[in-house]
Amino acid sequence: MQKQSILFVCLGNICRSPVAEALCNNIVDGKLRVSSAAITGHHNNEQADKRAVNILKSHGLDISEHRARQIRYDDWMLFDYIVALDKKVYRSLQRMKPADSKSKVILYGDIKDPYFSGRSGFVEMFEDIASIMPNFLRNNNIVQMS
Ligand code: 4NP
Repeated sequence: MQKQSILFVCLGNICRSPVAEALCNNIVDGKLRVSSAAITGHHNNEQADKRAVNILKSHGLDISEHRARQIRYDDWMLFDYIVALDKKVYRSLQRMKPADSKSKVILYGDIKDPYFSGRSGFVEMFEDIASIMPNFLRNNNIVQMS
């Protein structure tokens, strides 16, 4: 059977969704194909926000190779789950979902956008995303957790 696949989506793909991607990858350890994308193309090809990179680094995770990209039609054909990091993103995804989409859209949580906050906003964002991840994967039957 093909690996299940999951795409985390936030507004810019430079703060929340790259963090969710890294934390998910860290838990599923290759059992799932994991990626992330943005609603907007404003930060296309940019690296993740330095504040997000640094927080992950302090937890032993490296996202220095991440490059932001906007969600595209193919994603709706390729990913089993397309996961919104907040409610506004969830509504945008539901609006843009093509009629022939193969993906299930799920709300991860209402993770606050940390972009205009200081470092503490990024710490909070990291903790919010990390605390939800195990239950999120288990409750949606995305991976069998031991
Ligand atoms: P993200 O954060 O959606 O978590 O990547 C943001 C990044 C950029 C902007 C807003 C949120 N922005 O307005 O440029």
